Amino acid sequence: MRMVMRSRFTRLGRLGEVSTVAKCSKCGSKAVIKIPYARMNLCEMHFIEYFEGRVATTVKKYDLLKEGESVLVAVSGGKDSVALLSALTAVAPELRLKVMPLHIHLGLGEYSDESLRVTKEVSRKLGVNTFILSLEEVVGATIPELSAKSSRPPCAVCGLVKRYVLNAAAIEWGVDAVATGHHIDDLAPYALKNILLGDMGAALKLAPVTTGEEGYLARRVRPLYEVTERECLIYAIIKGLPFVKTLCPNVFLGGMDALIRRFLYELDLRHPGVKLRFMRSLARMATRYGVSQARTQAELTRCKYCGLPSRSDVCGFCRLTERVLGSPAGPMVREALKDVRASSH
Ligand code: AMP
Ligand code: FES
Ligand code: ZN
Ligand code: ZN
Repeated sequence: MRMVMRSRFTRLGRLGEVSTVAKCSKCGSKAVIKIPYARMNLCEMHFIEYFEGRVATTVKKYDLLKEGESVLVAVSGGKDSVALLSALTAVAPELRLKVMPLHIHLGLGEYSDESLRVTKEVSRKLGVNTFILSLEEVVGATIPELSAKSSRPPCAVCGLVKRYVLNAAAIEWGVDAVATGHHIDDLAPYALKNILLGDMGAALKLAPVTTGEEGYLARRVRPLYEVTERECLIYAIIKGLPFVKTLCPNVFLGGMDALIRRFLYELDLRHPGVKLRFMRSLARMATRYGVSQARTQAELTRCKYCGLPSRSDVCGFCRLTERVLGSPAGPMVREALKDVRASSH
């Protein structure tokens, strides 16, 4: 037992970039993580308090969710969304929120089966009821099949399908917002890349909240906006939460994205907090220019098949499924989501 505990602490200490003799800035006991931008070292207990507090502060500061609202939490089974689900569940009573997790089984072979297994285990551990939607069961095709038949890259198809299903679920269930597990290390490199390429509009859409429209487009919120990937990982480990350790088989870790990620990582090591200041200024700009509202009102209309947001008369999801499967799957997905909800009562 002692051996197991020691190796776990050593690993945590290394992940937390804290020396073995460092003390918690709050209580003086052994520190497991250094938070450079806050100039603090924290023990396990105070780190959990810090992480959950940061999520609660983000929700309040950016007005992501109001008291009494319900939030659909998109859980992939990875460390980030598992940390998000746990933290939101912990702060839900204080913020008076109703948390409704949803996992989409994407049909990516062993990776998706493991993601589903882990999501169920986490849900049991946290005492929450996670809704599950299987793409193969509902649409009759998996991501690899949709990708192969449409000759589009799997990640592009996957992104389109996930966005569609999450929004459809929120609308069908009358949920106030959809929360995803994007943290600062997902968002900052992407924002910087868009700025470098001259697409300021795309960068501003990476704000903590994107406003929706009643009965049609759900508000999207990012409660992990001000936490790092390392913090999500350490939080999940300390809380003893299971999470999927492997990456999606289609993930591509190269090119400009990887370079920018590396650059921001190095920059933040030398100038702690610079990444956070960058994202906070982006959030202020997004609010000032009202980017998200302009998009919903001016650019979108309703899909003639499913009634959900679209840039033309047929939405991306219905267009893809109509072309590949012979009929648009949007209406089917909406029906299935009604059944998923009803069967859980
Ligand atoms: P990714 O697009 O894989 O970077 O995931 C970004 C966020 O989307 C995650 O943090 C989750 O909140 C959500 N997400 C990804 N995959 C799934 C899934 N299979 N089911 C539900 N939500 C997901
Ligand atoms: Fe969708 Fe990787 S998670 S293609
Ligand atoms: Zn402490
Ligand atoms: Zn549609």
